[in-house]
Amino acid sequence: MNKNYLEQQFYCKDLFINEEYLDINYLPEDILHREQELIILSKIFIKLIENPFKITRKLLIQGDVGIGKTAIARTFGIMLKRSAKKRNIKIEVVHINCRKERTHFKILQQILLTLSYPVPKRGFSPQELMTILQEYLEKNKIYLFLVLDEMNHIQSSDYDLIYALTRLNDTTGKDSSFLSLLYIVRDITLLRNLDESTISTLQGNILSLKKYNKMQINDILEERINKSIQKGVFPSKLTMIISEKIEDSGDIRKGLNIVRNAVKIAEIKDKTIVSYDEIHQAIKNLIPSLQDDALGILNMHQTIILFSITTYFIENKEKRITLNQLNPYYLNTCKKYDQLPRKSTQIWQNLQQLRNLNLIKIVTISKNMKGRKSFCSINDIPLNILNEELNQKLKNFYCGR
Ligand SMILES: Nc1ncnc2c1ncn2[C@@H]1O[C@H](COP(=O)(O)OP(=O)(O)O)[C@@H](O)[C@H]1O
Ligand SMILES: [Mg+2]
Repeated sequence: MNKNYLEQQFYCKDLFINEEYLDINYLPEDILHREQELIILSKIFIKLIENPFKITRKLLIQGDVGIGKTAIARTFGIMLKRSAKKRNIKIEVVHINCRKERTHFKILQQILLTLSYPVPKRGFSPQELMTILQEYLEKNKIYLFLVLDEMNHIQSSDYDLIYALTRLNDTTGKDSSFLSLLYIVRDITLLRNLDESTISTLQGNILSLKKYNKMQINDILEERINKSIQKGVFPSKLTMIISEKIEDSGDIRKGLNIVRNAVKIAEIKDKTIVSYDEIHQAIKNLIPSLQDDALGILNMHQTIILFSITTYFIENKEKRITLNQLNPYYLNTCKKYDQLPRKSTQIWQNLQQLRNLNLIKIVTISKNMKGRKSFCSINDIPLNILNEELNQKLKNFYCGR
């Protein structure tokens, strides 16, 4: 019989103290380098405590992926709840991820569930749920601080939910108020489907988060590493290498994933200290777009364009592409999937959408007085994996028609 490898593993050193601290959903006690933003939120929403049930506030937070939008919203929610409780004001904080709860009905159902109101799975229309919510808040004197995270994922036909929510206060008693809203979105231009009047109520109430710089990223990663990994296992110069690597996107999630994977690779190799090799391998294994599910929301044409770009890169061993170079590849893919090619303005719009989703970069260079040239490139994503994923997606679109 073979040696009992399982037994042997009991004697191997576990490099992690607790891997969970590297999980992207883990909320650290201290959110570093976002003090200013937390102060701004506090200044805006303190009125809910100073004038309970009298005031409504709406704010939209926008900023790139993985730069702490969700983390500061959750942290602020905890602060708000604590301060309200201290003063015996019933404020409930509900954080909805609209990527998970995409429909009008599901969002309302989730709000009610979080407020411990059991809603049957079927049998109610969203309008009825809205009435139930309103009555429940009024009857129990509960003020709702509602966070709609990743709100661009709400199905566009359901956008009247936002309208209904903003109207909720108008229909309750004369000058009482039961709801404040915090919207979170990667880029406000993704909210194109949103009702104009809703957007206009947001004017001026937008908090744009800046990316972290290299040193800030380093501090944040360092803290997570100290908590989750045994002392001496992860040399701090490697943390700096990772921070430099992700500085461009500013995406902390990427950094956390690299750290976690590198340590796992080291464990498999029976090493006790992580080295650059494992970091390098972990970076190679990273698929940022897939990790973020950005591909999941692309429509057919955006998929065709991205597929054409990746195909061009693979076939020509290139890293950037102009619109002219893209054109024959685009036409080819359209033909293959029986799609009418779009006009160049529409292609350009789709490219910008892809950029908003962090899938591509666009750099425009003015060559001379006559014209400007735009180059598209793909950042940090292993091309072959992405190309195959898109190919699969196109086939599904095609078969699902
Ligand atoms: N300032 C910070 N301090 C500590 N951890 C942070 C900070 N900003 C982000 N993180 C961590 O980085 C990860 C991604 O942040 P998240 O808030 O989910 O990003 P976003 O919502 O902007 O995509 C989370 O695990 C979060 O805990
Ligand atoms: Mg988030």
